[in-house]
Amino acid sequence: MKRLVLAVVVLLAFLSPALAQEQPQEPPQADRSATGGAQTLEDIMKRQRGEAVDYDFRRNATGDPDSAAGMTNQLGTLGGVSDPELWRALRFGSADITVSSGGKEATVLMQDGGMRWLEIRNGPLKTYGAYLLAGTLAFLVLFYLLRGRIRIDGEKTGQTITRFKMIERFGHWLLAGSFILLAVTGLIVLFGRVAIIPLLGKDAYAPIALASKWVHNNVSWAFMLGLVMVFVMWVVHNIPNKTDLKWIAVGGGLLKKGVHPPAKKFNFGQKMIFWGVIVLGASISASGISLLFPFDFPMFAKTFEILNNLGLPQLVGLGTLPTELAPHEEMQYAQLWHTIVAFLMIAMILAHIYIGSVGMEGAYDAMGSGEVELQWAREHHGLWVKEVEEAQRKSEAPGKNAVPAE
Ligand code: HEM
Repeated sequence: MKRLVLAVVVLLAFLSPALAQEQPQEPPQADRSATGGAQTLEDIMKRQRGEAVDYDFRRNATGDPDSAAGMTNQLGTLGGVSDPELWRALRFGSADITVSSGGKEATVLMQDGGMRWLEIRNGPLKTYGAYLLAGTLAFLVLFYLLRGRIRIDGEKTGQTITRFKMIERFGHWLLAGSFILLAVTGLIVLFGRVAIIPLLGKDAYAPIALASKWVHNNVSWAFMLGLVMVFVMWVVHNIPNKTDLKWIAVGGGLLKKGVHPPAKKFNFGQKMIFWGVIVLGASISASGISLLFPFDFPMFAKTFEILNNLGLPQLVGLGTLPTELAPHEEMQYAQLWHTIVAFLMIAMILAHIYIGSVGMEGAYDAMGSGEVELQWAREHHGLWVKEVEEAQRKSEAPGKNAVPAE
C-alpha cells in the first residue's frame, strides 16, 4: 500500500506541470489605480513583447462593454481599443484605404511629413533665403562704393549701333516684367506672416495675400513665354567659345578701369546669366506647374530615382533619396524646391539689374531704345561690332543688289 501511495505521488509530481500548462492563461490584472484606469507602462511593454494584454479595462471603461464608445467619447471610434498597427499603417502610408472619389491623394489620411515641411519652410528656408538676398544687396552696394559706375572710357562717337531689335526687347521685357511681379508676389506670400502682418495687421494683409496669389498664378504663363522667346532668340549667341577664356582671365574687366576683353554679342558674364536664367527658369516653371495643378504632375520620385542612378546624392553625402513618395510629399518637395530656385534666381537677377542699369554707363539703352553708343559697343562687344560692320559692308557692296543684265 505504501508503495502504491508513493507511485501516485511521483506520478502526480510529473504530471502537475503539464496539467498546469494546459490551463488557459488569464492575463494578469494590472493595478491601474495610479493611471486612473488608463493603460500603464507595463501594458505597453507587454504589447511590445507580443504578450497577451488585458484590453478589457478599456472596453469596460466605456461604461457599456458590449458596444463601442460614442464618437465624441474619450475612448471613442475604435470602441475603446486602440489599434496601434492600424495607426502605424495610416501614418506610414501602408494602410489599405479605399475611397470613392478624390484619387490616390485622398487615400492619404495622415501625413506627418507636413510638419517637417512646415518647419523647414518657416525655419531655414526663410532664414537663409533672406540672408542670401540681403547679402547680395549688401555686396552690390559695396561694389558700387568701391568700383563706382563703370564708365565709357573712350571718346563718345555720337553714333549709335542697333543692339537689340524690337522683338528681342519685347521678349526681354516680357520675361523681366513677369519675373519681377512673380518675385514680389512670391516674397509677399512667403514673408507676409513675419514681415507684413506685424506692420499692417491681418485685415490689411488678407486682400494683399489674395491678390498676390492670383497675380503669381496667372503671370507665370507670361514668364514661361518670355523664357521660350529669349531662349530661341539668343541661344546661338550664348554657346561658350575660346574668347570667353580671355574674358575670364581679366575678370571681365569689371574690377579695373580701362580693361576691355574682346567679346561677341554676349560676353562670358552674360552667358552665365543667360544659362542661369534658362536652367533655373525651366526648373522653377516645372515645379510651379506641379504646384499650380496639385497632385497632377508629381516629378520628384522620378527625379530622385534618376539622381540615385547617377550616384549624385550619394556623392554629396545625402545617401539614397526616397523614390516612393506620397502625393502630399511630392507637393512639399515641389514647394521647397520652387522657393530655393526662386531665391537663387532673384539673387542672380539683382546683380543683373544692377549692371544693366546704375552699374554701367550706356548699358540700359540696349534694352531701352535698342540703340547703344558705338564707343560703348566697341569697348564691351568689340568682336560683335566688327561682325555687324562687316555684314553691313557686304550688304552695301556695289553690285550686291544689282539686277543682272538681260
Ligand atoms: C529692371 C530689370 C532689368 C533690367 C534693367 C535689365 C537690363 C538688361 C540689359 C540692359 C540687357 C542687355 C545687356 C547688353 O546689352 O549686353 C539685358 C539682357 C538680359 N536680361 Fe535683363 N534686365 C532686367 C531684368 C531681367 C530679368 C528679370 C531677367 C530674367 C529673369 C533678365 C534676363 C536677361 C537676359 C537673359 C539677358 C541676356 C544676357 C545678359 O545680357 O545678361 N533681365 N538686361
